[in-house]
Amino acid sequence: MSGQTAPAAPHAGVSVDVPAKINPHLGVGDPRADGYHALSTVYQAISLHDTVTAEKREEPGIEITISGEGAGDLPTGEANLAHKAAKLVALYAGIEPAVKLHLNKRIPVAGGLAGGSADAAGALVACARLWDVAIGDAELHRLAAGLGSDVPFCLKGGTAIGTGRGEELTPVRAKGTWHWVVATTDTRISTPECYKEVDRLREDGIGRFSSDVDPIVRAFESGADADTLARLLVNDMEAAAVSLRPQLASLMHGGLEEGALAAHVSGSGPTILFLATDVKHAVALARRIRMRGGARSVHLAHGPVDGPAA
Ligand code: C5P
Repeated sequence: MSGQTAPAAPHAGVSVDVPAKINPHLGVGDPRADGYHALSTVYQAISLHDTVTAEKREEPGIEITISGEGAGDLPTGEANLAHKAAKLVALYAGIEPAVKLHLNKRIPVAGGLAGGSADAAGALVACARLWDVAIGDAELHRLAAGLGSDVPFCLKGGTAIGTGRGEELTPVRAKGTWHWVVATTDTRISTPECYKEVDRLREDGIGRFSSDVDPIVRAFESGADADTLARLLVNDMEAAAVSLRPQLASLMHGGLEEGALAAHVSGSGPTILFLATDVKHAVALARRIRMRGGARSVHLAHGPVDGPAA
């Protein structure tokens, strides 16, 4: 051995898996002066994930291809959050972007699972690695927060309290694994649409801000069983999502009849999460929910899992 280190091999391509997020507690406050709503939420990353691959491109530019769940409906140009993410990393590094990004989607589009935010988080990490950009945690978080309220959490994964508009994170040490059946539907709900409906219902005196996350945080930290967690799930957007898409009520009710411990709207919906006792129960529950009909697709997932920049 000469003692010399071989030059680092140029990255041919970088692939990162980015999990979907759920909000076991989603407290929505009043709209702020900037139009965003104050949140008091607990995020958890689950095993349903997209894969973002970045490869060098000869010509300058950001090229996006998409496969998988809902691929045909997504923009491949500058309107895609992953495109914006790649551009931000290049700007930070002071280079001209020349990258091919491929998004392999398993996270349903506009389902309340932060699929677009996950792709943005994946593109930040994949491009930073591809271009060997030395970027610290704080700077990565700042870029992520500029892309969207859920993007910082999608980077980290695990379990975390989210405040501000969701971008201010406090990690939670969850002790355990919880099992979910994730049922997607044929409809979509845009996030702003659901927030507007929350405001409208509040004007009519329906719903209030569930700001206290302590009970569910304690449950995660102490490794509470699924029965306990079922009683602590909160979503201030649930009434709004069901008001916009009344068919969600029968899907939720059906899952409960099939033995789910709880039925919970994921974020702003319309994906429905059913909590199971353990993995065996989740497998049986998923089968029964599939047979019953009413869901577009039914997936098994567990959480928490790590994000790409954990
Ligand atoms: O932050 P993000 O771009 O993902 O938010 C999408 C939209 O959701 C915002 O433009 C806003 O209408 C709404 N939103 C909100 N309050 C939040 C987060 C999002 O009203 N805390």
